[in-house]
Amino acid sequence: MTGFSSRVEQVSISGIRKVFEAAGEDAINLGLGQPDFPTPEHARTAAVEAIESGATDAYTSNKGTIELREAIAEKTARDNGYDVDPAHLIATAGGSEALHVAIEAHVDAGQEVLIPDPGFVSYEALTHLAGGTPVPVDLREDLTMDPADVEAAITDDTAMFVVCSPANPTGAVQSEDDMREFARIADEHDVVCLSDEVYERIVFEGAHHSPMQFAETDNVVVVNACSKTYSMTGWRLGWVAASNRRIERMLRVHQYAQACAAAPSQFAAEAALSGPQDVVDEMVGAFAERRDVLLDGLTDMGLDVPTPKGAFYAMPRVPDGWVDEVIDRGVVVVPGDAFGANGAGHARISYAVDVETLKEALEAMRGATNALQ
Ligand SMILES: Cc1ncc(COP(=O)(O)O)c(C=O)c1O
Repeated sequence: MTGFSSRVEQVSISGIRKVFEAAGEDAINLGLGQPDFPTPEHARTAAVEAIESGATDAYTSNKGTIELREAIAEKTARDNGYDVDPAHLIATAGGSEALHVAIEAHVDAGQEVLIPDPGFVSYEALTHLAGGTPVPVDLREDLTMDPADVEAAITDDTAMFVVCSPANPTGAVQSEDDMREFARIADEHDVVCLSDEVYERIVFEGAHHSPMQFAETDNVVVVNACSKTYSMTGWRLGWVAASNRRIERMLRVHQYAQACAAAPSQFAAEAALSGPQDVVDEMVGAFAERRDVLLDGLTDMGLDVPTPKGAFYAMPRVPDGWVDEVIDRGVVVVPGDAFGANGAGHARISYAVDVETLKEALEAMRGATNALQ
């Protein structure tokens, strides 16, 4: 008898898509999770040269080319303060596939995965697809996740907890102390800490830290990608870093689902990671300026918004009906409950647009706010 798996029936298409479909073609789109900058020229050129020389005609190693994995290892030592063996990396089809292989390899049917609420949409869906049970963890007032809340939620069935910093959809950045605590919790309770670090370079205040820096066991698994840092969402290139035994299990999933990340993208990523990094600094500078414009505008219209310290999202509390009013005025924002029950009463605003467009969008938001008073 034909039918669908109960795992897939538990998952629906992301609420973000529905919003795009509701908005007109000329709408200003503040719903997108991708930087509005071009991919650095040296990355594009590396891919073109690799294609023209025929270097991309064949499968690469399942884990990705050794040159790319060496570039990721060098980047990790440079930016993240810990060493990773290139053998302990798998290049994936974006951070998305990295999350998928990590959850699929570690979560058994019926096991629990603790996820931030609100949190990035994939964590809940991928947990269901693995047959697991997502368990939402409330966030603090400043929208960071309290390690004490994670620890309190751990049961005998917990396989994993997910940390995302800087975070989508909140822009919150976890402190170094929090990251130390997450590492301790993973060590002491023998659960996996899945650390999603795809926004690690987009930090405006403080610095990014990884639980991997502090863990004493191999219980931390790191997911990262070129997508946000180098404006390469379309290239689909991410990676997962973990110990040998964990990489070996994740490779079983990756090998059968993907074989290897797309070869042209691997060449582009290697160039992006090992080439000049000033393009990233320029992009982060532009995001910082926009964040201030957005925060000033939202605060000025009386909305309460925790200051985002990273990524390119803000998550103000908004009155009932606000998101629909804003969309009716030609600006796409995402209702907060697309990211979990605690997102209700909030909107996620992405500021991956230039300052002029952002100011125009703020006028629409002001109109919506006034209309609801
Ligand atoms: C927190 C977070 N993790 C992972 C991803 C997936 O990124 P990628 O485009 O590399 O698959 C996203 C994309 O929006 C994200 O926001």
